[in-house]
Amino acid sequence: MLLGHEKEKFLYLPTPLEKLENISKDLGVNFYMKRDDLTPLAMGGNKLRKLEYFVKDAKDKGATFLLTVGGAQTNHGRLTLAVARKYGMRGAIVCVDDYPGEVSANLLLDSMMGLDVWLKRPEKGVTEEMVADEIAKMYEARGEKVYFIPMGGSNELGILGYYECAMEIDKQAKELGLKNPLVIDTVGSMGTYMGLYTGILNEGLDLRLLGIGILKYDDMIGYAKDYFERVKKYYNLDVEAAGFNLTDKYDRGAYNNPVKEVREAMYYMAEKEAIILDPCYTGKCFAGILEMIENGEIKKGEDIVFIHTGGVPGINTPFHRIEMERERGNFIHVI
Ligand SMILES: Cc1ncc(COP(=O)(O)O)c(C=O)c1O
Repeated sequence: MLLGHEKEKFLYLPTPLEKLENISKDLGVNFYMKRDDLTPLAMGGNKLRKLEYFVKDAKDKGATFLLTVGGAQTNHGRLTLAVARKYGMRGAIVCVDDYPGEVSANLLLDSMMGLDVWLKRPEKGVTEEMVADEIAKMYEARGEKVYFIPMGGSNELGILGYYECAMEIDKQAKELGLKNPLVIDTVGSMGTYMGLYTGILNEGLDLRLLGIGILKYDDMIGYAKDYFERVKKYYNLDVEAAGFNLTDKYDRGAYNNPVKEVREAMYYMAEKEAIILDPCYTGKCFAGILEMIENGEIKKGEDIVFIHTGGVPGINTPFHRIEMERERGNFIHVI
């Protein structure tokens, strides 16, 4: 029970907090990784922590169907379908997006789970929520009881997943002898960040928090403002947004764009630690961390905890994969 809410348990928590020895030696910092990519179900990722709470609520309400929204390559959507299947439900994703040209990456995993993805071409004034409303009505007419999960799972229940993760990191960090480590989170819609932020403040944890944005500051805050106020009111929390520690310096210009420095950071992680990052979220964040170490914003000898939030299926998105094949294609030696 956390802040009055129960959850379904399918994650085998805690996820490992491991020191990456090769990178630590190379970079001169104590580099720890919180392995939320090692969560089970459909290749894992951060959204599963939120879904433990959503699926409990959905079951309690007698739902037979999980419906959510996102881009065509949404990680959150893929994991929502995974949890629907795990709990014997049906589910679908609604996207206002163009067809990306092939069934690969997250879409391929969605197809393997045998559930529907609805793609509506972008049109002025048409939102995902409007389309989702129509699609929900259609499934309800077929006898389903639909449980709707908002974009990125960001609502009062969704915040609990990373509130709990902050407590988990604090406990593991203490066991490992870390003092006031800097926890670094990749920020998109800010749901993960705000869970960590409220957990750290409300529980008085010995952690610092930095969010490295893959979007511009105003876009991140745009997602966060109302959400944070709603969460504060719902749980009656005495926490203020004034302490948000976010940077958009490493957003590389656009959402999910292919970027050479990001791929180089991904190759570095793969070569040193055999850990695979993704080009949209964690690779961008890690490329930012590397720059921050180089320019002294992260100090030598510092204890840092980078949360691997998953997203690895994204390496197969065609416009990322093509670049990687071009850059790394000379490893095959046909003899
Ligand atoms: C792999 C991955 N990392 C980080 C994030 C960012 O999480 P949030 O939207 O909660 O800020 C996402 C969001 O979809 C994601 O899929």
